[in-house]
Amino acid sequence: SLHISDVSAQRKVWGVKRGQETILGVLSPFVPAGEHRHPRPPTAATAHAHLERKSRLQRRTAVSAETLPSASDKAENHLHHAAYRQVRQPGVSFFLEKCCIFPCALRAIYSIRKWFDATIEGGSLRVYQILKKQTLNVNTKLMVIHAPHVARKAEPGQFIILRVSAEGERIPLTIADFDREKGSVTIIFQEVGATTQALGALNEGDCLHDFVGPLGKESELEGLKKVAVVGGGLGCAIAYPQAKKLHEMGVEVDLIAGFRSKDIIILEDEMKNACTNLHIVTDDGSNGRKALVTQVLKELIDAGNQYDAVIAIGPMIMMKFVCETTRPYGIKTIVSMNTIMVDGTGMCGGCRLTVGGETKFACVDGPDFDGHLVDFDSAMRRGAMYKAQERAAVERREEHCNLFKKEVK
Ligand code: FES
Repeated sequence: SLHISDVSAQRKVWGVKRGQETILGVLSPFVPAGEHRHPRPPTAATAHAHLERKSRLQRRTAVSAETLPSASDKAENHLHHAAYRQVRQPGVSFFLEKCCIFPCALRAIYSIRKWFDATIEGGSLRVYQILKKQTLNVNTKLMVIHAPHVARKAEPGQFIILRVSAEGERIPLTIADFDREKGSVTIIFQEVGATTQALGALNEGDCLHDFVGPLGKESELEGLKKVAVVGGGLGCAIAYPQAKKLHEMGVEVDLIAGFRSKDIIILEDEMKNACTNLHIVTDDGSNGRKALVTQVLKELIDAGNQYDAVIAIGPMIMMKFVCETTRPYGIKTIVSMNTIMVDGTGMCGGCRLTVGGETKFACVDGPDFDGHLVDFDSAMRRGAMYKAQERAAVERREEHCNLFKKEVK
């Protein structure tokens, strides 16, 4: 059915409904009243022709998505980000979401950018291609991804959001390292859920579907002279770039890295080169000293080390106790909040936290916050909200993999 309605004296909206889908168009949106460029509204025939053109375009982009992984979806991803940014301007958001011209323009821009990435910056490399994959311990992997636009702007403390496939979940990962010249970004992740397992199953040469970033604010490291950086487990992958940047700036860095046991220690050599003193502790004493990171930190402070700041990155419970350790000494303590995230642009509210009695969003206001102001208890409760769904997703994936293995046999 075709329907046309007046929005204002200057604007008319027409819509065609086919099944669940409604195509909307706007007549002469920017032309003053009485100066319509369209002498008459579209007929049902022209509107259906428009629908046909759209489905032809969709078929074409589906083919290109097979040969050039994810090109169209990445354009849509950019479109969504643009739409999110414009959400407070309903008029603009309407055009972005409903009119075909904007997706087409964005797709064109994205294709040019993708061509630029592939031909000028990366030679034969494809965007978001995995350049290197390394197993750091039994379930922790490092990947170097070809993402020149992310590498160009990345700073310590920022993160990316990736999708492994078009139907995949969006997961945030902190940028562990980057190389602006090579156009590469390093991520480190633990295979703890269905998506990280799927990511870990990819190999060098494979491509990720999306790799959006850098997101969040960079860490404020200016003006510091002596700093203690505390990393716990996988948090050391994030503590490492912070320590490295501080070390390069000439700051004296005491790096305290805590792990459950020696089997899961990561980046030991890299951390050694990125600090003045490295203190490795394990829960079971299988490597380094048997102690908690908070014990070592307290000893260092009591020994007279005057820290301008303590930076803590790791499990929330560890960050909470680091803050409790530094609070009596009044040492500024910065924590990196690893919350649940969906869009990473401040729109979904998934990453919200209470900081100093105010609601903040880790993705746009952080991820670094003053640890003495963070309400860790509510953050931990929120972080555990989707545990049941995560477990179910892992079980589904394992079941699927087992069925596949049986079929292959
Ligand atoms: Fe959605 Fe931060 S991830 S608001």
